[in-house]
Amino acid sequence: MPPPHMSHKISKPTPENKPTPQDGKLLEKLDDDILKVNQLRGTLKQCPGSPHHTIDDELRLEQKQQQQEKGEEEEKVESIADENWQIASEYYKNIDTKAFRQYELACDRVRQFYEEQHERQTVAYNIQARINFKTKTRAKMSVWEGLERLNKLLDDSDPDTELSQIDHALQTAEAIRRDGKPRWFQLVGLIHDLGKLLYFFDSKGQWDVVGDTFPVGCKFLKRIIFPDSFKANPDFLNPLYNTKYGIYSKHCGLDKVMLSWGHDEYMYHVAKKNSTLPPEALAMIRYHSFYPWHQELAYSYLMDDHDKEMLRAVKAFNAYDLYSKTDQQYEVEELKPYYLELIDEFFPNKIIDF
Ligand SMILES: [Fe+2]
Ligand SMILES: [Fe+2]
Repeated sequence: MPPPHMSHKISKPTPENKPTPQDGKLLEKLDDDILKVNQLRGTLKQCPGSPHHTIDDELRLEQKQQQQEKGEEEEKVESIADENWQIASEYYKNIDTKAFRQYELACDRVRQFYEEQHERQTVAYNIQARINFKTKTRAKMSVWEGLERLNKLLDDSDPDTELSQIDHALQTAEAIRRDGKPRWFQLVGLIHDLGKLLYFFDSKGQWDVVGDTFPVGCKFLKRIIFPDSFKANPDFLNPLYNTKYGIYSKHCGLDKVMLSWGHDEYMYHVAKKNSTLPPEALAMIRYHSFYPWHQELAYSYLMDDHDKEMLRAVKAFNAYDLYSKTDQQYEVEELKPYYLELIDEFFPNKIIDF
């Protein structure tokens, strides 16, 4: 019998059935497992002798794939803007990516998770989730209170527990700060996973909070993790939704594409409404789990020119999200004043609607 935390199903939190620290550990563990699988997939894709793709490599690959698209026009990929914040971190150039690998351990749990997610993330569900989001306010609190609330779910007295959400938030932000990146970029590190608060509000489980994201309303591509599990999705056989473009059009722009509902999309809308963060920051929040796009470089035929710039931003962020977990842990109270000031700089109103 697997231990209780290995079960992939968690009942929705209710007053009688509040999430326990154990539930939180599972949420975090699942997210970690997914990251590890992505990490492994990334590792397998790397060329021999080249420990890491650079953004240049990725853009070249992206360009090649675009040219291969049937009936697609050849496109020029703009040269990379040499802004400092897009330069890859020196700290991660020689990182041992295999240290993230626990594929066998992750495999069953992650597969079960994706089976449920891929079956239930339909167009109908996604429309309803967005209606629900826009028609009510789930909580009013400050960004920092939100982080603390999220952390409560994960705060376990177990000394062997993995990182809590606030640890991950601070590690990501501190890694970005250490590299001298702009303050808006640091703030993204801090709040990028804050949307996991959804777990306390409207979620139906974990499948609509965490995990890789993907477009609904068009064909589910093989470059999405565990693609076979989409066969159980009612949209899989729907002729409106199962073609290359589905309900979208060529190069319509990702802003018009409905990505599977989860913490990325939710937090993007919260940040867009309540902050002065730049478009690159909002894209980092919105697309950081869109691995089929920013890692596998799929869906180039839905991208517009703006998305090409945003892709660079999301990739710049992704290294910090993944690799900062190897970094040291920080004292929350010591860093709190710095980040409270940072939050105030970009969130004009202290109390915001979540
Ligand atoms: Fe995330
Ligand atoms: Fe994260």
